[in-house]
Amino acid sequence: MKGIVLAGGAGTRLYPASIPISKILLPIYDKPMIYYPISTLMLAGIKEILIITNPTDIHNFKKLLGDGSQIGVKFEYAIQHKPKGIAEAFLIAENFIGDDSVALILGDNIFHGHCFGGQLKNVAKENKGATVFAYHVKNPKQFGVVEFDKHKKAISLEEKPSSPKSDYAVVGLYFYDNDVISYAKTLKPSARGELEITDLNKVYLKKDKLSVEILGRGFTWLDTGTFDSLLQAANFVQTIEQTKGEKISCIEEIAINEKFITKEELLKRLNPKMQNEYLEYIKML
Ligand code: DAU
Repeated sequence: MKGIVLAGGAGTRLYPASIPISKILLPIYDKPMIYYPISTLMLAGIKEILIITNPTDIHNFKKLLGDGSQIGVKFEYAIQHKPKGIAEAFLIAENFIGDDSVALILGDNIFHGHCFGGQLKNVAKENKGATVFAYHVKNPKQFGVVEFDKHKKAISLEEKPSSPKSDYAVVGLYFYDNDVISYAKTLKPSARGELEITDLNKVYLKKDKLSVEILGRGFTWLDTGTFDSLLQAANFVQTIEQTKGEKISCIEEIAINEKFITKEELLKRLNPKMQNEYLEYIKML
């Protein structure tokens, strides 16, 4: 299975912070935002990851992440020239995906919860068609919304509905079979001029090939699209990390735990002259 992090977008909601740099490179507490979605894909066991970004920011992503060999993964990069919709990712990534299945994660989505790695690996292995995740939210109007029947089977999907049929948002993490490329090619731009991920998921729903996993109460999902949610996410990460003494979404730690790389290989690549709390944590692993 391949992975895609969609890290483009206009970033207008974070103006002026997003003028010089992509919002997805801004820090969430002690690490850049993109570490969080990358770590989610790594926990699913995915080692080949395409970062899709805009032409002005691509060099900064490359500077931060390189080719991925330092953590035993392979990063590739592609450009989305204009934010023409989340589903455009599958058109841009067609060659990268090849004959494989694929997981897409939005660059500003943070996931944290017990046993999530196991759940993700299971979805990656078992997915037939599409699998998406639903999360109970206070403000469903701001998201893609899924409606369930009494057996918790998905019966409708709507993007940012004015009268939501449920309080369950579809979060920004999606698993698809290889048909996603051909289905994405059939989509037409919405009224706001975007190829909507919800329209793509509706294709799977109509074919009865959409599974929806509910992320329960013990789970945390954060969409860091605004100044408030950015701060909330940073506070959340700080609270957990300082309480537990363990980091959330430390990609180096995940690489070791997932056996993508050995501790010795990782240590060899660290610059011994550089010192900070993050590096000390890695050295302590
Ligand atoms: O976060 C979950 C929600 O993400 C879902 O519930 C919605 O169904 C889905 O449409 C999306 O809604 P948002 O309003 O959060 O989408 P937004 O336009 O803010 O884009 C999400 C991220 O994807 C953001 O970091 C920018 C990036 N993006 C977006 C578009 C439309 C791109 O890189 N390229 C794009 O063309």
